[in-house]
Amino acid sequence: MTTLLLTGATGLVGSRLLPRLAQDGFECRALVRGEAALPPGTMAVRGDLADPDTLRAAVEGVDAVVHLAALFRTQDEAAIWRANHDGTRNLIAAVKEHAPNARLVMSSTGNVYNADATRPALETDECSPKSAYGASKVAAEQLLRDSGLTWAVLRLPFVYGEGDGHLASLHTLAPQFGLHPAQAYSVAHHRDIAAAVRLALTGVMDGRIVNVTDGAPPVTVYEMTRLAGRPIEGSAEPLTDPWFGHLDSTLIRELGFTPSVPTVYAAAREGIL
Ligand SMILES: NC(=O)c1ccc[n+]([C@@H]2O[C@H](COP(=O)([O-])OP(=O)(O)OC[C@H]3O[C@@H](n4cnc5c(N)ncnc54)[C@H](OP(=O)(O)O)[C@@H]3O)[C@@H](O)[C@H]2O)c1
Repeated sequence: MTTLLLTGATGLVGSRLLPRLAQDGFECRALVRGEAALPPGTMAVRGDLADPDTLRAAVEGVDAVVHLAALFRTQDEAAIWRANHDGTRNLIAAVKEHAPNARLVMSSTGNVYNADATRPALETDECSPKSAYGASKVAAEQLLRDSGLTWAVLRLPFVYGEGDGHLASLHTLAPQFGLHPAQAYSVAHHRDIAAAVRLALTGVMDGRIVNVTDGAPPVTVYEMTRLAGRPIEGSAEPLTDPWFGHLDSTLIRELGFTPSVPTVYAAAREGIL
């Protein structure tokens, strides 16, 4: 049986991914900082990415690490860098020392791409994001690429579904972060994030950075808030960065990924928002 460590298991994505990986038959460990109710058949390992001494027990003997843990829903830029860059650095060091043959799959984000893009973002695009979140993820990706480990990076879009409250949170986040109602984001449902991670764990993405999206046209902030039942005000002001948030999905499809939730509207019909 493949033994796997998941970081970020208590987060929006991780808490929906962990039961799926356990169901798939992986022997799952989850790195947790505090008390956490984990799904049956999974094991909590107490640890913190900020504390390298706690990581040995988490990684020793694993065949794979799925690294989701990150910090980004804050304005504290130093904390964002500590979690996303330094945390990844500590994890990589622990894996190199105690599980050097393990495959490390890391989640990154579409926020790594430049806001002034002129078309949907390709994995090969140069990335010099202005936000601390985007920049810290680019730096973390680079650490992984230089690590000598077997690795894959999944650049996730806006992830939604299964009552995670993410779509609904845009009602508050849009005005807070100055998001234009017509700004559109590529999206993917939790079910398909799990499918993408499964695919990465087969090795077909080794040594690659791969965008993950449902492949449908991006969804505007306005439409997302409407779908969540909490619409924001519309606007006819011009959109400054019309391509920001649009991810090209050609590569992941070529690698064998077929989303099971084709659009956010299909998810609404299926009752899995
Ligand atoms: N959600 C999205 O739409 C989206 C979009 C693009 C990319 N992503 C990427 O997907 C990943 C997961 O996102 P998410 O939405 O699930 O995030 P989240 O809900 O904020 O969860 C973050 C997770 O990271 C853990 N964590 C943070 N700092 C840690 C540390 N020092 N040591 C150990 N664990 C730590 C948190 O643990 P605690 O419970 O202890 O705080 C939590 O489990 C991230 O890498 C993010 O960049 C997400």
